[in-house]
Amino acid sequence: MHTKVYRLAEMQPEQVEHAFCDCASIIKAGGLVAFPTETVYGLGALATSSSAVQAIFRAKGRPQDNPLIVHIQNEEQLRKIARRVPESAAKLAKEFWPGPLTLVLETGHAVAEEVSAGLDTVGVRMPAHPVALELIRRSGPLAAPSANTSGRPSPTCAEHVLEDLDGKIHAVLDAGPTGVGLESTVLDLCCEPPAILRPGGVSYEAIRQILPDVLVSPSCEQERPRSPGQKYTHYAPKARLVLVSAKEHAALAHLVGEQTAALLGEVGRVGILATRENAPIYEAVFAQQLREGRLMVLVSGSRAAPAEIAASLFDRLRQFDAQAVDAVVAEGVSEVNIGRAIMDRLRRAASKVVTPRFHVLFLCTGNTCRSPMAEALFREIARERRIEDRIEFSSAGIAAVPGMAAAEHAIQAVGEELRSHASRELTKDVVSGADLILTMTEAHKRYVTERYPHAAHKVHTLPEYVEDAAGDVEDPFGGTLETYEKTREQIQRMAELFFERFLKERRT
Ligand code: TXA
Ligand code: MG
Repeated sequence: MHTKVYRLAEMQPEQVEHAFCDCASIIKAGGLVAFPTETVYGLGALATSSSAVQAIFRAKGRPQDNPLIVHIQNEEQLRKIARRVPESAAKLAKEFWPGPLTLVLETGHAVAEEVSAGLDTVGVRMPAHPVALELIRRSGPLAAPSANTSGRPSPTCAEHVLEDLDGKIHAVLDAGPTGVGLESTVLDLCCEPPAILRPGGVSYEAIRQILPDVLVSPSCEQERPRSPGQKYTHYAPKARLVLVSAKEHAALAHLVGEQTAALLGEVGRVGILATRENAPIYEAVFAQQLREGRLMVLVSGSRAAPAEIAASLFDRLRQFDAQAVDAVVAEGVSEVNIGRAIMDRLRRAASKVVTPRFHVLFLCTGNTCRSPMAEALFREIARERRIEDRIEFSSAGIAAVPGMAAAEHAIQAVGEELRSHASRELTKDVVSGADLILTMTEAHKRYVTERYPHAAHKVHTLPEYVEDAAGDVEDPFGGTLETYEKTREQIQRMAELFFERFLKERRT
């Protein structure tokens, strides 16, 4: 089959008229036409024709049990497609249509059975793109999934459609890149309370203004999701994708760097999907690998403008594929508004999600004896138990002289690893970077809670935290090797208790 491409931007008005005429005829004859919407390109067929709808499933290689969205152009069509239009649907339509919101309603009789894929509901939306609306006006309601091969990222321009479907569909109406870049929000109005089955172009926060009891369905994690599309691997580039998610920007950049370094040791070519703010950091850290062509950094958009990230996401994933990258490390975004949809797509594309490790800070006075000993001993046990990717340790002193080595006896008692220790002062940043602060004495604990009251909830003495006991870890400072060995034994015993508790509480 030859796929005809109509590049609307290059056409005179009468040629545009011809293009629409051709495409409407193709659709009416049961053919498939890809067309732009404000979200992504759709692959349209007549919603009333079983054979045309079946052809969509074949062209995409789409699983038979995944229903299609019907695209309409006016409210009258809605009343034919849905058996009933509840008041909530009318309100939402008034607020968000035309636009990126799909309403799941009880199905009427006007659409082919295959559209609903065996369900008694139908997804309906009125797209906000003049080309889509004009095509529907001429041909009638269109059943249209995203115009990609099943499992691939959705197409945000005509080139993406052709990458996947050239020769498998009759025509593409090319009107340039789409605006939103992620698919519509799918909202189920057939359940109580109504549930968002797929986050998308209209945010949960906006829908909540109209439907205060709306939920975001956890269906992604369920075994039998209510929106069949949610159970399939989606949006996946060919490369393995590692998603890094962290609230703090510094932690995010650090983890992306760590993951990238690890992957560069394993595979040939690595890609980073970075925000504009962080891209220069990665380019500096991995300058050599960039020069050698082993690393590719693509900017998704500004951290301050998540809409920009949404618009570019699928294109960037396809670019990594085109460059034959073996693995991609992607920066996550904050999960509000369009950020929910971005994170949903990234999670579905990811084979692994990395979050910051739980950070335990040990605190003593000079940061040359007890706290560095605890740091080394705890780290050793984490390594033995193979949980170094979930927890990390550091130490500091409330009266530390920065850069001091650990006491010689401490090194002898604990091991050569302590030889590279350099003492560190307790500062505001050190406090805020820790998830848990374990002090050697009651006095250290008091010091922290008085100076940093906002951190008081995460400060405990080590004996209090692990065995609910009062008292301090004895200070071996100035003592013999034997004194230090006693301290080591005390800390080691507490470490065993600590890990038992940690593993029990964080059994994820
Ligand atoms: O923005 C969009 O929604 C794009 C453009 C082309 O309109 N379309 C799109 O279609 O993304 P598709 O088929 O790729 O994704 C439709 C999603 C699937 O996850 C499907 O399972 C769900 O909507 N869906 C469709 N009808 C449904 C129904 N009756 N009940 C539950 N989920 C439904
Ligand atoms: Mg799709």
